[in-house]
Amino acid sequence: GAYGFRDQLQDAMALVYAEPGLAREQILRAAARQFLEGDVQHWWHPETGRGVRTRFSDDLVWLPFVVDHYLTVTGDRSVLDEPVAFLRMRELRRDEHEIYDLPEVTTEVATVHEHCLRALRRASTAGAHGLPLIGGGDWNDGMNRVGAEGKGESVWLAWFLIATLRSYAGHADARSDHAAGTECRRRADRYAIAVETHGWDGAWYRRAYFDDGTALGSAANDECRIDSIAQTWSVISGAGDPVRQARAMQSLEEQLVQPGARLIQLLDPPFDQTARDPGYIKGYLPGVRENGGQYTHAALWVVQATALRGDGGRAFELFQMLNPLMHSRTPDEVQIYKVEPYVVAADVYTAAGHLGRGGWTWYTGSASWMYRVGLESLLGFVKRGDTLRFEPAVPADWPEFSVEYRHGGSTYAITVREPARIKLGAAVAMLDGRLLDGRSIPLADDGQRHEVVVSAGLPADGARGGGGLRS
Ligand code: GLC
Repeated sequence: GAYGFRDQLQDAMALVYAEPGLAREQILRAAARQFLEGDVQHWWHPETGRGVRTRFSDDLVWLPFVVDHYLTVTGDRSVLDEPVAFLRMRELRRDEHEIYDLPEVTTEVATVHEHCLRALRRASTAGAHGLPLIGGGDWNDGMNRVGAEGKGESVWLAWFLIATLRSYAGHADARSDHAAGTECRRRADRYAIAVETHGWDGAWYRRAYFDDGTALGSAANDECRIDSIAQTWSVISGAGDPVRQARAMQSLEEQLVQPGARLIQLLDPPFDQTARDPGYIKGYLPGVRENGGQYTHAALWVVQATALRGDGGRAFELFQMLNPLMHSRTPDEVQIYKVEPYVVAADVYTAAGHLGRGGWTWYTGSASWMYRVGLESLLGFVKRGDTLRFEPAVPADWPEFSVEYRHGGSTYAITVREPARIKLGAAVAMLDGRLLDGRSIPLADDGQRHEVVVSAGLPADGARGGGGLRS
């Protein structure tokens, strides 16, 4: 019965192709739930506007992160100029973790660009290691006591901020707000140094620091020695040292991927006996939900990071581990997985006696990322404004794949031949039988049906004809 700030913004990211208007609406709806100080309601009831003010450290950053994705894919810069009001409410007292109340809507109105900058400034905190403070938790809601005293830091949040600050800097520059662009890049560069100096554990990246400076997600821990999101985001952010990225992903493969059960854990070993209190994550049984189960949302980032590193074969194998259909091929599998095979489950258990059992299904947070990772990371569907190109990361033996894309009133029937070869060489694209100059396909909203063929090389029989596109 409520909107989650980060959750529904992420859901909306999947809509930028088929219904960009809905993604834009969600951006404006979310921006209107930002307090004057830059933080946001963690969730709110749309009927009344009543919701919670919290110390979650990442919520607000999803606004510029999603704005970047929307803008890059649609080319609609006008969203940055939309005027949106703020919320006013008292700030949390030192001893308070959250307040549930009805805030006042301000008469002060600012552009979405200003809302994004306020979010980035408020989020760019720094603790003793120069990493951002984890506050009342980051993407992992259950780690809400790692930084309860206000000193704990998050390595994942550092990657997330670097990625968002750097991409947003480009949008600030594009509207001649160079001061903001420079400020964003400087903050990102500082985190990039801090994360390599204090985030590396030796064979993977640490996850966080507790208030007392103890590391979490380190070989020194008995529980939660390694957490997947600190590894995957070293790749997704593009900011991790390349040698360490490779080592980190190798450690993740060794310790978090379970090929037998076909699942990818969020962290391992689960919290159970540890004296230190990471938060309510410890309240889940070991191997359930975030506590060492497969958390599908984060597992999809493993597929994305693997594809980004160029290993399409492995990325597809990992994708298939998450594909619910692959857990329901036989009556025996159905007995183990137990839940609906035609929707995505938020989690799959690793708990003793329940290995491979599906958890909470119909989960939009995982479904939206699965759609994006399949389309963008594997098939390499890259839409930039009114152009489309393909940069696939798929198994070497795929002969071809096809995509039917509706762009406004037009339909593009696209066949991509020998997709694994495309990344290696220059791609060639044909639109309605005409060889295009370059790999980008111009998209027109003309109500027509268009045939597109993309391949790695020139057709042997010249530019004409659909067949025989082998070079
Ligand atoms: C749930 C929450 C989401 C959070 C995730 C990981 O899906 O709705 O906000 O990021 O769990 O803890």
